[in-house]
Amino acid sequence: MTATATVRHLLRDDDLSPAEQAEVLDLALRMKAEPFAFRPLEGPRSVAVVFDKSSTRTRVSFSVGVAQLGGHCVILDAATTQAGRGEPVADTARVLGRMVDAVVWRTYAQADLEEMARHAGVPVVNALSDDFHPCQLLADWLTVREHKGTLAGLTVAFVGDGANNMAHSYVLGGAVAGMHVRVGAPEGYAPAGHVVADAEKVAAGTGGSVTVTDDPVEAVRGADVVITDTWVSMGQEAEKAERIATFGPYAVTGALLQHAAKDAIVLHCLPAYRGLEIAEDVLEGPRSVVWDEAENRLHAQKALLAFLLERS
Ligand code: CP
Ligand code: NVA
Repeated sequence: MTATATVRHLLRDDDLSPAEQAEVLDLALRMKAEPFAFRPLEGPRSVAVVFDKSSTRTRVSFSVGVAQLGGHCVILDAATTQAGRGEPVADTARVLGRMVDAVVWRTYAQADLEEMARHAGVPVVNALSDDFHPCQLLADWLTVREHKGTLAGLTVAFVGDGANNMAHSYVLGGAVAGMHVRVGAPEGYAPAGHVVADAEKVAAGTGGSVTVTDDPVEAVRGADVVITDTWVSMGQEAEKAERIATFGPYAVTGALLQHAAKDAIVLHCLPAYRGLEIAEDVLEGPRSVVWDEAENRLHAQKALLAFLLERS
């Protein structure tokens, strides 16, 4: 497809301004209410969704979402494309960009996503990298809006691996939304300094804040939203035993939740490892909104694609 001069991407959570993040979430709520009423991909226009790592939710939500928008989804993976045999990202980008209207990519290095965005000529969406998971962040904030009615001013506590993609997205995407984000993580697993610094700049304009602590109770105290994620992200399997030993005190259990607000909700992007980062009775308990959260991947990503294509 021929690109216009300005092509919009979502590579990290601050690629959307505060007003734009709110606009995407508003649209997602409208799309959720009327799933088949929006047809921006009529034609059909096509979206390539490329996986270098495993996925259930992302794969199904993009595939179903593109179909509901009137478009056609091409699912690709490294193992069966020439990318897996060493074709450069810039070459893959130019080929995909000539045939599809957007590229969605789950991969390892953030720099590779940036390279894809430089050369594709169409919107590129980060469907999870080692550094950020901005699609999940949108689904999560949609879920919080549904359950709490607002985002700005809420206190969100992420407990666990503060250096992983989800933690970074909460820090940055929370600042964009004007939330008070607390990260409780062991020493050596705090969010990257550059992510916190970028988030603090954004937060200065939105009224949000970022706090990093190694005390899980301090992180969760009075929080409106408590979140965790796996302790062993994709690509970190060799460190599994060491990570499980390190993160034990950061498990989201009923005892830890005693310190949160009485009406706190619990999020987890899934897949969840019961008995490790989250207790079974918390995941399946009344505060958990994880199934709404999983469904909201569909609605949030539909709105995101419509937004990016309209602005590009
Ligand atoms: N939460 C999430 O991204 O799930 P998948 O890995 O199944 O896509
Ligand atoms: N942090 C996890 C998220 C999975 C959706 C990972 O990268 O494996």
